[in-house]
Amino acid sequence: MMLSPSILASDLTDLKNILHLLENQVELLHLDIMDGHFVPTLSFGEVYANVLRQHTKIPFDVHLMVQNPEKEVPKYFDFNPFVITFHYEATHFPVRLANEIKKKNIKAGISINPKTPIEHLEPFLEDIDLVLIMSVEPGFYGQKLIPSSIQKISKLKELILNKNLKTLIEVDGGITENNIKKILDAGADIIVAGSAIFKGNIQDNLKKLKWIS
Ligand code: DX5
Ligand code: ZN
Repeated sequence: MMLSPSILASDLTDLKNILHLLENQVELLHLDIMDGHFVPTLSFGEVYANVLRQHTKIPFDVHLMVQNPEKEVPKYFDFNPFVITFHYEATHFPVRLANEIKKKNIKAGISINPKTPIEHLEPFLEDIDLVLIMSVEPGFYGQKLIPSSIQKISKLKELILNKNLKTLIEVDGGITENNIKKILDAGADIIVAGSAIFKGNIQDNLKKLKWIS
């Protein structure tokens, strides 16, 4: 499993210490970029990502919850992130955009909202490196996982195996020590966690999540 803490759910005024705690403990740093249009919330963008980059070496996992991702994607190329993920619901040209990302030697990810059927991604699976399944409605941290997300993960895993692909599965939203095992068993490779890591003692929370998995 790769663990990707959602920094949005942390105490953003204490980032130096938090990043120091996470260094060498987690594989990725999940950046929730929200534009106030695709989702109601406005979070942060490339300027803030740049500040983060100066304080940590953890590779970025960029999650763009924005309209017009064609405009936003290039802003993250210079961070050399592990992956740039845009939403299926936000573009008419997912393949073209994925190719643009891959040309930079960065993994291309597509995310789908809870109500978007996984079958919609079937025609694109060959073109992308990662699928990010939203297990809550995007826009806010601290929500409860939507139970049907588990079947979605299994279905996607089956599609990937049937096509003999290596597409990674990332799951985001409402993951806790109580449901992480189910999510991993269903086929997830990357786990995003906000509240489960940043609410309470970060080190204890990390230990718990890793131990259970
Ligand atoms: C929701 C974001 C998530 C969120 C995760 O729109 O994409 O990354 O911050 O936080 P938790 O784990 O608290 O649901
Ligand atoms: Zn996210």
